[in-house]
Amino acid sequence: MRTTVGIIGAGPAGLLLARLLDGAGIDSVVLESRDRAYVEQRQRAGVLEQGTVDVLRAAGAGERMDREGLPHDGIELRFAGRRHRVDFPALTGGRSVMVYAQTEVCKDLIALRLRDGGPLLFDAEALAVEDAATDSPRVRFRHEGAEDVLECDYVAGCDGFWGVARKAIPAGLTRVFERAYPFGWLGILADVAPSHDELVYARHDRGFALLSMRSPSVSRLYLQVPEGTDVAAWSDDEIWSELDRRLETDDGFTLRRGAVTQKSVTPMRSYVHEPMRHGRLFLAGDAAHIVPPTGAKGLNLAIGDVVTLARALAHRKETGSAELLDAYSATCLRRVWQAERFSYDMTTMLHRIPGATPFEDRLQLARLERIAGSRAAETDLAEGYTGLPFG
Ligand code: APR
Ligand code: PHB
Repeated sequence: MRTTVGIIGAGPAGLLLARLLDGAGIDSVVLESRDRAYVEQRQRAGVLEQGTVDVLRAAGAGERMDREGLPHDGIELRFAGRRHRVDFPALTGGRSVMVYAQTEVCKDLIALRLRDGGPLLFDAEALAVEDAATDSPRVRFRHEGAEDVLECDYVAGCDGFWGVARKAIPAGLTRVFERAYPFGWLGILADVAPSHDELVYARHDRGFALLSMRSPSVSRLYLQVPEGTDVAAWSDDEIWSELDRRLETDDGFTLRRGAVTQKSVTPMRSYVHEPMRHGRLFLAGDAAHIVPPTGAKGLNLAIGDVVTLARALAHRKETGSAELLDAYSATCLRRVWQAERFSYDMTTMLHRIPGATPFEDRLQLARLERIAGSRAAETDLAEGYTGLPFG
């Protein structure tokens, strides 16, 4: 099999890249190790930055998002029993976010790809990227039990944190930056109307809690739990009671309960792989970097990477110049590190860090007070949350 761009992974990064390349007249083949139902049901994040919304619309993939997505103009910070609303448009010159699940973005992009006839192979597991530093890189893969080779001009490693693409970059040329957090998030999906009309990020002495949503009738809620927590150790009642405690306010907030339809625990880490390119292999999304979910940046970073990559490949096709491809890694990493900083700040401001001293606890509260009391500090949060421009 032969194509111009071999794309490994049909998450948001791989799927949007295929769509953008299609628009630029560049052919590609997408290889996805899982089946379609798995990819379309996987529960992930749900907040799209302004820039992500704009890109999906421009790519012709925004129709259902605009119908079913929930535009949000702010978030609420909750601490010490108080609430503070951060008004995004007022602080950022009109920017906001859209609550629309990553799984829905994937469904929309898969439907478009299949409708337009572009190759998208499910049950196709990439085994290795070979000859990445030459002019004819290849992806070895297994499809429906048989091994095959995809010959390419370029390979895009959009295969997430556990993928194989990264391994094709020699260790001697690589630097990895990493931080694990000694806690995770227990997340539930519940059939109940959200108890607040915007996302609520709560810092509480018992740990962090987040109230989010998927639709006017489905809530998504999270609790900070110790690292290695088994989801089976928490009954639904215990989860609701703990959410009640951590989301409590002096003005008597009440949390609506409903049937829990899904439960899982996600670990938290920060991770950056440098560089994001080796020869004709380009890494994008979780294959190159992970952020803790507190800032809702993971999906948006993946989108930023593939916008930059698609533009660079189109530039190469139109002008013959590899200038933008050569700049790909550095361009993406500038934005990646800003998102790493933002996600780290949000995470350390809102979670109970095991072993934190009383002094550090007070500093956490002082950081929140500062945001609530200073337009400059609040603007920094609003700019980070609604997203920096794509490079
Ligand atoms: N061969 C083919 N496909 C693979 C392989 C492989 N060897 N390894 C992994 N994959 C697939 C996975 O099954 C998955 O569908 O690659 C895809 C990677 O998708 P994501 O993990 O969603 O990563 P990405 O597209 O970069 O999107 C980042 O995902 O984890 C969230 O919070 C993160 O929202 C962010 C987003
Ligand atoms: C979600 O709805 O899944 C969600 C929202 C905001 C976050 C993380 C996850 O910061």
